[in-house]
Amino acid sequence: MATDQRAKADTLSLRQRLLSSSCRLFFPEDPVKIVRGQGQYLYDEQGGEYIDCINNVAHVGHCHPLVVQAAHEQNQVLNTNSRYLHDNIVDYAQRLSETLPEKLCVFYFLNSGSEANDLALRLARQYTGHQDVVVLDHAYHGHLSSLIDISPYKFRYLDGQKEWVHVAPLPDTYRGPYREDHPNPAVAYANEVKRVVSNAQEKGRKIAAFFMESLPSVGGQIIPPAGYFSQVAEHIHRAGGVFVADEIQVGFGRVGKHFWAFQLQGEDFVPDIVTMGKSIGNGHPIACVATTQAVSRAFEATGVEYFNTFGGSPVSCAVGLAVLDVLEKEQLQAHATCVGSFLMELLRQQKAKHPIIGDVRGVGLFIGVDLVQDEATRMPATQEADYVITRLKENYILLSADGPGRNILKFKPPMCFSLDNAQLVVTKLDAILTDMEEKVRSCETLRLQPCSVKHPPGSTGPGCRAAAGSRPS
Ligand SMILES: Cc1ncc(COP(=O)(O)O)c(C=O)c1O
Repeated sequence: MATDQRAKADTLSLRQRLLSSSCRLFFPEDPVKIVRGQGQYLYDEQGGEYIDCINNVAHVGHCHPLVVQAAHEQNQVLNTNSRYLHDNIVDYAQRLSETLPEKLCVFYFLNSGSEANDLALRLARQYTGHQDVVVLDHAYHGHLSSLIDISPYKFRYLDGQKEWVHVAPLPDTYRGPYREDHPNPAVAYANEVKRVVSNAQEKGRKIAAFFMESLPSVGGQIIPPAGYFSQVAEHIHRAGGVFVADEIQVGFGRVGKHFWAFQLQGEDFVPDIVTMGKSIGNGHPIACVATTQAVSRAFEATGVEYFNTFGGSPVSCAVGLAVLDVLEKEQLQAHATCVGSFLMELLRQQKAKHPIIGDVRGVGLFIGVDLVQDEATRMPATQEADYVITRLKENYILLSADGPGRNILKFKPPMCFSLDNAQLVVTKLDAILTDMEEKVRSCETLRLQPCSVKHPPGSTGPGCRAAAGSRPS
């Protein structure tokens, strides 16, 4: 197979000629050409095997044979739109409903996370009759115009904040205003949302929705304090708005203990709208919005049809069903708990050894390693994170950094990521950090710089235009 392929340099130059440079590559100085994927592994054109620690889209593993087979079999029989009766779409809606609280019982099928959040926005506005949205700082909710507007992660580098958008602080108990030593960070952060809502109302604005990722990922692998969601929901409901939980990166059992990440906040909390994407189709473009009868009825009352050409097709639904089957058969949720706890434990040992690791946080296979310049100030170690990631890639481990300071190493691997993978990745990380510390010690001037450490262009620090808002994945 490899002989039929273009040389890597040719692929790169064709890509540079034909594709917009806005569509960025990982490791732009030395991009990786990937030709095959299997389970938690990706293979380059030379047969090099990489451990994939970041692809939460290949949820049950790259090219899982049962998912591939389901798509292939359904493709051979029928693939059409959802205006005809078909069992797959109803079977799939039924299976998804079994994973959710009873109240979330109406489903819309779409093709991407962005489409799901855009529909959530329309539903919220139609149901409430209001226009405005409260979002968390540094959030990303998709690439459509409507979603760039509610994504501080992007709009801060574009046209800025629209008058109908209101930004509340991230409930980050490591670096935010209320930290681990605060007696009740959940209430304190929820009160920030209340304050943002009140300020908006004083200007005559009316809140349609509060959007948040159930675990803010682009914001830096944040684990919101328990109780935050229900407190926020109270404030938002009182303002006449709805709570939208974006589960696009974090749903489908990734957190281990629960199928949905919002469930980490307790049984009593139920969002009004849940949006799903990425992992839902293991790479096939599927997305979904689940909501209540009340919200859906308000949308239906317009009399306007909701039609989505590809959304909910027999093939998409066959794939979605296969993903759920694999999750169950291979007990991947329990696996995420087991491997995630092991990985967290190994990473905590690294924190004890390397002062650059300021915090290790996570749940299941959603883990962040927060690199800091100084334990006391918790200043993001942006360049160091970039260096670590580049070195890991040289060691055939794919990891990325995110967060406002692009200093949080984020683990969100396919759910089949193993104990051995965890051990190997942490061993390599340990070696890289040890070596880096050596270099820094022997370097009299600025930390890593002249000591033969490569930095890709644009990695100049937190908030820099080139580095920020690049690519959530
Ligand atoms: C939290 C979150 N919401 C929404 C989206 C948009 O999903 P998509 O790229 O499938 O449109 C993303 C994509 O990165 C995301 O991370």
